[in-house]
Amino acid sequence: MTHDHLLSPITAAELTAPNRVWMAPLTRSRATMPGNIPNALMAEYYAQRADPRTGAGIIIAEATPVSPQGHGYYATPGIHTDAQEAGWKQVTDAVHARGGKIVLQLWHVGRVSHHALQPDNQPPVSPTDATSQSKTYIDDTYERHPNTPPRKLDPAELPAIAEDFANAASRAIRAGFDGVEIHGANTYLLDQFTRDGMNKMDPPWGGSTENRLRFPLLVAHSVVDAVGAGRVGYRISPLSEHHDAIDSDPKSTFTALAAVLGKLGLAYLHAVETWDRSKIDPRLKTVIPAIADAFKSAGGHAYVANGDYTPDQAEQAIASGWADAVAFGKLWISNPDLTERIRRDGPYNEWNSDTFYGGGARGYTDYPTIDQPALR
Ligand SMILES: Cc1cc2nc3c(=O)[nH]c(=O)nc-3n(C[C@H](O)[C@H](O)[C@H](O)COP(=O)(O)O)c2cc1C
Repeated sequence: MTHDHLLSPITAAELTAPNRVWMAPLTRSRATMPGNIPNALMAEYYAQRADPRTGAGIIIAEATPVSPQGHGYYATPGIHTDAQEAGWKQVTDAVHARGGKIVLQLWHVGRVSHHALQPDNQPPVSPTDATSQSKTYIDDTYERHPNTPPRKLDPAELPAIAEDFANAASRAIRAGFDGVEIHGANTYLLDQFTRDGMNKMDPPWGGSTENRLRFPLLVAHSVVDAVGAGRVGYRISPLSEHHDAIDSDPKSTFTALAAVLGKLGLAYLHAVETWDRSKIDPRLKTVIPAIADAFKSAGGHAYVANGDYTPDQAEQAIASGWADAVAFGKLWISNPDLTERIRRDGPYNEWNSDTFYGGGARGYTDYPTIDQPALR
């Protein structure tokens, strides 16, 4: 099959890309510890995926905590210290030297954390005091530990957290990123506020849809004020029930969010549609078009789809008008030249999930390109 739509250029406000094969944010836990500092190995990994012909149209770099309190996994890089900013600069320089584009995903995990990863061993914070049923790794053994109980946030703390996102966005632009993506997906802090199954705050920060969206939108406004809407994206996962998160009416909740983000003039809205297309939620067919339409008709630029897409399904999604670009995750882990492979209609390297998180070059920078003999 040819993939002409997927391989065509796209402009979304201030973000321009040579193709619509974007790289989804992927936590790989290879930052230098202590300090959660991006390093030369990370620069090499991203640069391998940055060539305008063989690489990603836009690389969305891994989820990156905006503050010490935003951390929930060991060895994830941050963007709240000068050393982290300098570490990211070497990454963006390496990507730009190859002609690529890279945006940074801004993250606060909320309750999906462990006190061992928090400043002074404090409990993680959340709009609920219910403990996340997820597990995390807290040191270089990468053994999984249950999340520990959160402390419910005091409303007086919220402006400072929004400010952390704005400061992190400014740092990201200073570090050379072409833009930022606000992580509103996968049941981390902003999603914890958004969903009625998790937000237990009193009005005006909890309750009605409008109230639950107040904090995520405060963050979005703060980031837009800091760096300008034309280089800001926002990620959601409206149908995911990941980490025991539910919303009783995802269509109306996320359509309302998308409409305000569109009005702000964001460059793109990015949705994790599913993690497994063989078990697709039947609501997807109506929920996603409603959200994408709400975003774009209000003034937002591009809808970026993600979630277990094959290149053929992605081509179809763009040709049919479902999406403007498709972000691939696992395929980029194992195929540094994914776009060239799509141009040649494959073949594709398989990914090794044992090396997703932590470790060094193995399973990170050693996947071969199509013309390279297998090195592994
Ligand atoms: C190893 C790994 C790390 C991930 N890290 C992130 C992350 O940092 N931020 C995020 O929003 N999603 C993250 N995800 C989810 C992916 O971005 C993507 O939504 C998911 O893998 C489904 O897309 P795919 O089938 O194309 O891989 C991660 C997924 C994997 C497998």
